[in-house]
Amino acid sequence: MSEPLLQITGLNKSFGPVHVLHDVDLTVPAGEVTALVGDNGAGKTTLVKCVAGIHASDSGEVRFRGETVHLRGPKDAAALGIEVVYQDLALADNLDIVANMFLGRERGRSWLLDEASMEEAARSTLASLGVRTVKSVRTPVASLSGGQRQTVAIAKAVLWNSNLVLLDEPTAALGVAQTRQVLDLVRRLAEQGLGVVLISHNLVDVFEVADRIAVLYLGRMAAQVRTADVTHSQVVELITAGRSGDLGLARPEAAVL
Ligand SMILES: Nc1ncnc2c1ncn2[C@@H]1O[C@H](COP(=O)(O)OP(=O)(O)OP(=O)(O)O)[C@@H](O)[C@H]1O
Ligand SMILES: [Mg+2]
Repeated sequence: MSEPLLQITGLNKSFGPVHVLHDVDLTVPAGEVTALVGDNGAGKTTLVKCVAGIHASDSGEVRFRGETVHLRGPKDAAALGIEVVYQDLALADNLDIVANMFLGRERGRSWLLDEASMEEAARSTLASLGVRTVKSVRTPVASLSGGQRQTVAIAKAVLWNSNLVLLDEPTAALGVAQTRQVLDLVRRLAEQGLGVVLISHNLVDVFEVADRIAVLYLGRMAAQVRTADVTHSQVVELITAGRSGDLGLARPEAAVL
């Protein structure tokens, strides 16, 4: 039972001649929030897309609940209960909340969708996540605020009996109150037993919500630490220099080459 939910070992990914991820290791336990941090271009989104089966990795091993898995496409990831909420939110503006949450996975036959059951599932998922700011699940997404949209995107990800949810900068475009809501939601997902990976540039949020922090530096995993064991300035140093005291890459300068 001590197997982590997700364990990545030695993952490499290149785009043509550009080697983006170098021998990346990442451990994500269930029931915890793992923050994935790093400067712009460090490879965070690329790593998440490898886990989601969107990018094929060049080498490395991915274990899910202790078993080696091959993520050849988004369907392989979805079958394991891996869901991603992307940096650029993919919600259809003209559709309402229910339709968005079930987009591509509608219940019922094509000529007779089971609207009542989808509506109930959408409502109960939002309720189970403590979402109270959305008045009706029949509201078109176009008329929601940024925070409400993010909430719907996250609820959509957890509707599918997910085990692991990866959130790529879910609060980047949000105000204070909306960020609060989303961070509360992120915590609740972990409390429900899911593994959560949160990409964020906001270290205040990271220190508040994450149990563990993984730092990518120029495509290399500089450190994976428990939040309680590090200071804010150590994490800043790891992000910007790849090393902080005893923590980090042995030779961060070699990573630049
Ligand atoms: N499809 C692609 N083709 C070629 N290069 C890519 C592709 N996607 C990403 N890259 C490159 O990979 C590197 C890592 O990009 P990635 O988007 O993973 O960074 P990131 O850590 O998510 O950054 P940010 O914080 O700005 O979102 C960058 O140098 C980027 O230019
Ligand atoms: Mg990114």
